[in-house]
Amino acid sequence: MTYARITGTGGYLPENVMTNRDLEKIVDTTDQWIQERTGIEQRHIAVEGQTTVDLAEAASRKAIKAAGIDTQDIDLIIMATSTPDKIFPSSACILQARLDIHGCPAFDIQAVCTGFIYALTVAEKFIKSGSSKKALVVGSEVFSRILNWEDRGTCVLFGDGAGAVILESSDETGILSTHIHADGQYEDLLLVPCGIADDYDRVKAGRAFIEMKGNEVFKMAVNTLGRIVDETLAANQMMKSDIDWLVPHQANTRIIAATAKKLKMSMDQVVVTVNKHGNTSAASVPLALDVAVRDGRIKSNELLLLEAFGGGFTWGSVLLRF
Ligand code: UT7
Repeated sequence: MTYARITGTGGYLPENVMTNRDLEKIVDTTDQWIQERTGIEQRHIAVEGQTTVDLAEAASRKAIKAAGIDTQDIDLIIMATSTPDKIFPSSACILQARLDIHGCPAFDIQAVCTGFIYALTVAEKFIKSGSSKKALVVGSEVFSRILNWEDRGTCVLFGDGAGAVILESSDETGILSTHIHADGQYEDLLLVPCGIADDYDRVKAGRAFIEMKGNEVFKMAVNTLGRIVDETLAANQMMKSDIDWLVPHQANTRIIAATAKKLKMSMDQVVVTVNKHGNTSAASVPLALDVAVRDGRIKSNELLLLEAFGGGFTWGSVLLRF
């Protein structure tokens, strides 16, 4: 049987750090409020001119090195992002050129904070079908560019960063199941309400900003992530106690803690990076995975549950043996 296995991880965060105290000088907020309601202490913010592909390239090179493969062996590139460098070509194509790879399929996936889970799901299908042997799967974002720095309800929550994995065809077990969902009826709760074909004037005015009804998103996220955990375990006939590590989307420690509670997991088995990274959208899961792999917490053969919830709404999970 052919599996898709993660053989290398990489992450990159812009050097520039913005603390909650820095934000106190910009909007009517406090370090205490941000920490109590979200768990966030700081986030990394890309400097002017630093783009999504710049971050993606740095994370990808680390993942390629960790996997010990030759860049030329990569035969599929999927990039999850909601903040692409250009309208087109895709950020995946720009990344492909940066890595001096030519000819393999390369495309972007847009599922906001669930983007990396979607990208991993699609890459696994390429590998299982035999269409691909070595895939580069990246989540990269510069959400700071779509933040309204006058809206304290959103600007304190997000940060920039990139995470990447190499997914290889293998006889050894790897990804056990993937589960992705969407329900477009909730568009109005979390969105950037303009684009090329709708209210382009707002884009031209430089006011393409995230709008979120945070409290309603919070409740939906907690309930939906609880359901996806049940769905994933049932599909694999596994019990909560089988899971070694929860690698959740990093939006809010209270949402993460609710999912851990549902799984009856101690927070020691949960990878938390939101305190240092903020919410990096599609980059958050691969960044968290990379942190816990590199610091030695996640070890070979352990069972990992990756999950995310985001704009769309979209949500999903990946169960894998590392
Ligand atoms: O990644 C995609 C998914 N996104 C998420 O999962 C985010 C989900 N939502 C959340 O994490 C939380 O809803 C927030 C962190 C965004 C907000 O926390 P909350 O506990 O739901 O607060 P709230 O929106 O109900 O606001 C409570 C109060 C309000 O004041 P009043 O009306 O009670 O006087 C807000 O105006 O907190 C106020 N507030 C702030 N105060 C200080 C909102 N933002 C801030 C702020 N600093 N930055």
